[in-house]
Amino acid sequence: MSNRFVFLFLYILILNLIFGCKKKDDLETLRFSNGVYPIYFDLRSDSTRNSENGNRLEKSSDCGTCHKTIFENWKTSRHSQAFSNPLYQQSHQKEPMSWCLNCHAPFLDSNSDVTNPSLRLQKEDGVSCITCHVREGKILVSEVPESKTNFHTYKEVKLLASEEFCGNCHQFNFPDKESILKKKDFVSYSKLPMQNTLEEWKQSDWYGKKKCQSCHLLSNTSKSHTFPGGHSHKKLEDSFTVSMERNSKFTYTVSIFANGIAHSFPTGDLFRSLRFRILTKEGIFLQEWKLGKTYEDNLHAKSFDAVKYLSNDDVFLPPKDKSRKSRKQFVFQYEKETDHFRYELFMDYLNPTTHIFGNLPSEITIQKFKSGEIKVSVWNDSNG
Ligand code: HEC
Ligand code: HEC
Ligand code: HEC
Ligand code: HEC
Ligand code: HEC
Repeated sequence: MSNRFVFLFLYILILNLIFGCKKKDDLETLRFSNGVYPIYFDLRSDSTRNSENGNRLEKSSDCGTCHKTIFENWKTSRHSQAFSNPLYQQSHQKEPMSWCLNCHAPFLDSNSDVTNPSLRLQKEDGVSCITCHVREGKILVSEVPESKTNFHTYKEVKLLASEEFCGNCHQFNFPDKESILKKKDFVSYSKLPMQNTLEEWKQSDWYGKKKCQSCHLLSNTSKSHTFPGGHSHKKLEDSFTVSMERNSKFTYTVSIFANGIAHSFPTGDLFRSLRFRILTKEGIFLQEWKLGKTYEDNLHAKSFDAVKYLSNDDVFLPPKDKSRKSRKQFVFQYEKETDHFRYELFMDYLNPTTHIFGNLPSEITIQKFKSGEIKVSVWNDSNG
């Protein structure tokens, strides 16, 4: 009996060692550091070459000459605009930390100044084909494809097929106070999550069933790379439904459900929120709820963290788990007889103060992605 336990223990230990080492090797190959450092990249030795004419393939558009559809899909993704998009540009202006660039324009030559955005290599490509697939002159894949042509020289990086790969940029904490106050070039992290997508997913019912890649990578079309998320109106529209119950003559409970989202919503960027509006059937505004993190600057308080959340996890639509649905409910009152209400759903991409002091038009910062009618059941006093 005890022998078997020892055996099992050793087995698990060995597996862990093998996979642990593999993960470490893969992270080393990718030069991923969870955003602490840039990805140091040497265009000459790291770029892969076109095996037909020997030309260096330095940019995503170079890959696009053959992988046309994937390139076009990636172009529409937020990854391709991670540096150039106006929301990022504006918020980086407000918080000009070189740290931001390590995920939004991660490539840098090893002799360059980390703090200077203009020195980032291929910054206009954001998170590019090269960011995820090219190092040491090779194409990184989780499994070398069986191919007669063997067009590329490949390197196997198992991590590419794992959620931990995405987690390198999609799971991280706030920088600690010292990093912010002393404006350090390389931050150290506090214990407070800033983006918590991977952890939220691990806590959900989806863990072990579907991973980031299953829903965001090759979705819909063949070899997609569109990475739909909070800017994809079509996908958002499909992901939410709304229903209503009448509690009494004048009170209603309205429910909003998320379908097929394997983490909280909103997740990711801390300024993002989901606005939900109820209007009368004539379109007159009645009430609005906002789901998203609220926090305040804590830099000069005694506490350790640089930032403090003002609200807890309750402010999201949680992912489905064994005990709960992915649902949020709100109660409101309306003191007239009606047969239906209207609702509207918006994504809100910025911090409220930036809405006031920023210079971006509201078409960019707040976008409506769904609206509709909700029927109301007739109330007679016997209902209660
Ligand atoms: C001149 C055409 C051409 C260019 C340019 C090109 N590729 Fe490829 N790629 C191919 C072909 C053909 C295959 C099919 C498999 C093979 O023959 O190795 C392939 C396969 C791949 C695969 C593996 C596919 C699988 O089935 O797992 C990846 C990943 C890839 N390419 C990425 C890239 C990236 C990134 C770039 C730009 C740095 C790039 N390719 C540039 C032609 C090209
Ligand atoms: C955010 C990271 C990321 C970016 C950006 C990215 N890819 Fe990929 N790509 C992946 C991952 C992850 C896979 C799945 C890898 C695996 O399992 O080997 C993949 C798979 C592929 C495949 C194989 C598809 C298949 O199953 O046959 C090709 C080809 C490819 N990528 C080309 C590209 C090209 C070209 C670009 C740029 C236009 C690009 N990728 C941008 C992460 C990325
Ligand atoms: C079961 C499918 C599924 C899985 C697994 C999944 N997601 Fe999502 N994710 C969605 C859907 C659906 C949405 C919202 C609609 C959309 O895609 O536009 C979404 C939205 C997002 C957003 C934008 C959210 C916002 O607040 O605007 C990000 C970022 C994201 N996912 C990253 C990830 C990462 C990273 C993982 C892995 C840890 C992951 N997702 C796993 C389905 C999934
Ligand atoms: C090198 C860092 C990096 C890696 C690796 C990475 N991402 Fe991203 N991702 C980003 C950044 C930065 C953005 C935000 C781009 C923007 O809008 O400014 C983003 C945006 C997204 C979005 C769109 C979110 C939205 O709301 O529109 C999705 C979905 C997403 N990533 C999924 C993934 C998945 C799945 C993987 C793993 C296969 C992955 N990412 C790997 C950095 C990364
Ligand atoms: C460790 C990686 C990482 C670092 C460091 C980082 N970000 Fe991001 N950022 C992301 C990812 C991943 C997303 C996508 C999540 C989402 O869309 O909700 C994102 C999204 C954003 C967005 C939303 C863009 C959009 O298209 O809606 C803004 C704005 C942004 N980041 C600004 C910043 C600024 C400013 C900094 C530095 C103070 C920073 N980021 C540092 C990974 C990072």
